[in-house]
Amino acid sequence: MRVLHRFFLPSLLLLTTTFAIAQQNSSDIDSKVDALLKQMTLEEKAGQLTQLAGKTPESLQAIREGKVGSLLGVLGADNANEAQRAAVEHSRLKIPLILGFDVIHGYRTVFPVPIASTGSFDMPLLEQAERVAAKEATASGVKWVFAPMLDIARDPRWGRIVEGIGEDPYLGSRVAAAKVRGFQGKSIADPDSVVACAKHYVAYGAAEGGRDYNTVDISEQLLREIYLPPFKGAVDAGIGTFMSSFQDLNGIPGVANHHTLTDILRDEWKFNGFVVSDWGAVHELLAHGFATDDADAAAKSIKAGVDMDMVDNAFEHIPELVRSGKLPESVVDEAVRRVLRVKFEAGLFEHPYADPKREKTDILTPENLQVARKLAQESMVLLQNKSEVLPLAKTKTVAVIGPLADDKASQLGPWAGNGQAIDAVSPLEGIVGKIGKEHVLYAKGVGIPSFEGGLGAGVASPAPPSATGVKGIANTNKPSSIDDAVAAANKADVVVLFLGELAGMTGEASSRASLDFPGDQLKLANAVLATKKPVVLVVESGRPLDIRWATYHTQAILQAWFPGVQAGNAIANILFGDASPSGRLAISWPRTLGEIPIYYNHRATGRPSSPDRWHTGYLDLPNTALFPFGFGLTYSKFSYSHLAVKTPTIAPDGSLEVTADVENTGSREATEVVQLYVHDRVGLTSRPVRELKGFERVTLRPGERKTVDFSVKANDLGSYDPQMHWVVNSGTYDVWVAPDSASGVAGTFEVK
Ligand code: GLC
Repeated sequence: MRVLHRFFLPSLLLLTTTFAIAQQNSSDIDSKVDALLKQMTLEEKAGQLTQLAGKTPESLQAIREGKVGSLLGVLGADNANEAQRAAVEHSRLKIPLILGFDVIHGYRTVFPVPIASTGSFDMPLLEQAERVAAKEATASGVKWVFAPMLDIARDPRWGRIVEGIGEDPYLGSRVAAAKVRGFQGKSIADPDSVVACAKHYVAYGAAEGGRDYNTVDISEQLLREIYLPPFKGAVDAGIGTFMSSFQDLNGIPGVANHHTLTDILRDEWKFNGFVVSDWGAVHELLAHGFATDDADAAAKSIKAGVDMDMVDNAFEHIPELVRSGKLPESVVDEAVRRVLRVKFEAGLFEHPYADPKREKTDILTPENLQVARKLAQESMVLLQNKSEVLPLAKTKTVAVIGPLADDKASQLGPWAGNGQAIDAVSPLEGIVGKIGKEHVLYAKGVGIPSFEGGLGAGVASPAPPSATGVKGIANTNKPSSIDDAVAAANKADVVVLFLGELAGMTGEASSRASLDFPGDQLKLANAVLATKKPVVLVVESGRPLDIRWATYHTQAILQAWFPGVQAGNAIANILFGDASPSGRLAISWPRTLGEIPIYYNHRATGRPSSPDRWHTGYLDLPNTALFPFGFGLTYSKFSYSHLAVKTPTIAPDGSLEVTADVENTGSREATEVVQLYVHDRVGLTSRPVRELKGFERVTLRPGERKTVDFSVKANDLGSYDPQMHWVVNSGTYDVWVAPDSASGVAGTFEVK
């Protein structure tokens, strides 16, 4: 096998006309930036690089003194405008603030959590959802969102797996681009566009033991092939900002990592936005044992490539660092230029204020809710449907049981933006709305004890008891009991059992050492199963849980994740057949905790997994995921056939062209996510057994067949050689067109 060509990573082909216009605008902006920079004192420069939390008397005073360039967490047009006036009307140079907030999966119209919506594989819909988020956020005075979160994760113990884009770099890079387009729109200067922020740069999801904030030690090749591509996708889509990560990468904390922040992000990728540190991460260099004091930490982070300091105010040491010769003023000036450039490009100098009227017209509109419902429906994953128990007939008597069935706050998941639990449609409400309360029996059964009693980061406070529950449904707010649940089950034709995690058990600082259902949920499940009634399990969680028991004892399993503000309506539409499930797993589903980490794009090893014991795997467990990456059932059946490799041999600057026939062989219209995988059989390094390189959502009526075609540039089949050059290996490759990462129709092709 010979290396054929050394290519650089695929760079975005810019249309010359667009480039010329962009160049002309940017030179205008550059001259404005330089003119402003010349007037700034060292203190004012440090101020532009400082972000504080919230609008307080102290932060307003600091703004007036030119010591603040950004606030985070200021919500509401009036609040935003008050803070902005302190800068624009009362500071010496009148430089507008950029106001930031965590809009991770919606602002007030809360969408499914990102690990779920990534599984929709629906890029146009993801873009539309972030357009809605941007419209609502800007109506509320927010101009910068700390999203998309682009951390690849392979370990469900890590609480933040819920916020990310799953385990695959190709899917992650596509989602990144779609979300950036949605947030930033045609221009970040548009009044309903926000500046997006790729976070947490980089490899935060590889934390050892799945423990949040923990050490990451990975090879340069793994960094470049798995963890960086989603961030490159964001840069190629024109993202305005980045956020550095808390954790150390190979001993160097993300906030002071010159290799990632400058060598890669600036020198290789030519990113020209600005980088903000994560909350207090500059000061945390002391705890990392990487800096002696805040002044040392400030110097190390700004020299590495961080431009703005989030809330620990360590950059107030910049003037003295410059005056004492420890920090070149040119480094400070470059950071200030980057921040000012984004503020100019975002139109903040011309339009610094929010329009309070928009808060009444643009937020939580029926159109926005319709997008949330559609995305929630496309994000749920049907994992099992024995004897096609789903969809349920609307005439059945249904026992709705479980602690999450009427928990409005948990429907929104963690990092719920400005979401309010009161807005959420609970599963119970959705089901009653769908089939009428005369067909519904309800019993909570058990509660879920939250581990530390508090709410996780960004979790909406529970709705007041008066607002929960459904009128006319017995014991909605009565203390729960398993006996009640059993009684309800015995009177019903079918049980829909809602089990899982509280929203506060996932997200930041929410890693778990178990994949169990917390509390007495399995006790409830066993009691309900003992009634011998058919059980449909609906799991609401931020991570895969151990559901081996359910694969044996329940008829159907629907992974609903945290579906957002339209949860109940989306779940009811799926359960009763008014929508067909099409969601797929964006992460491999482990059989149990002991299998972690498990992911589909693994190397073969010298003893590929086999029933024979002398191969990689376990004595006491199959060496495969319970459900593979890309897996998900629909209410129909699809066949894959006639894979045709149109280009049996391709040159390294050519493209792979593949087609295959997909047919709906079932009895209902449904949507299939057709996936393309390749495998480089022999490389300069051992290559993953499969790599996703394409996908297409295909909706077919019963009996309808479609020839799906894929085209992949040979350069996109490349990999890094041991010297970290991007190469396209010659030789034989496998290719599959498939419903998931473990099956499909196969073929081969050559790269010569
Ligand atoms: C948090 C998170 C980050 C978030 C920031 C501001 O600690 O790590 O994702 O954007 O602080 O809330």
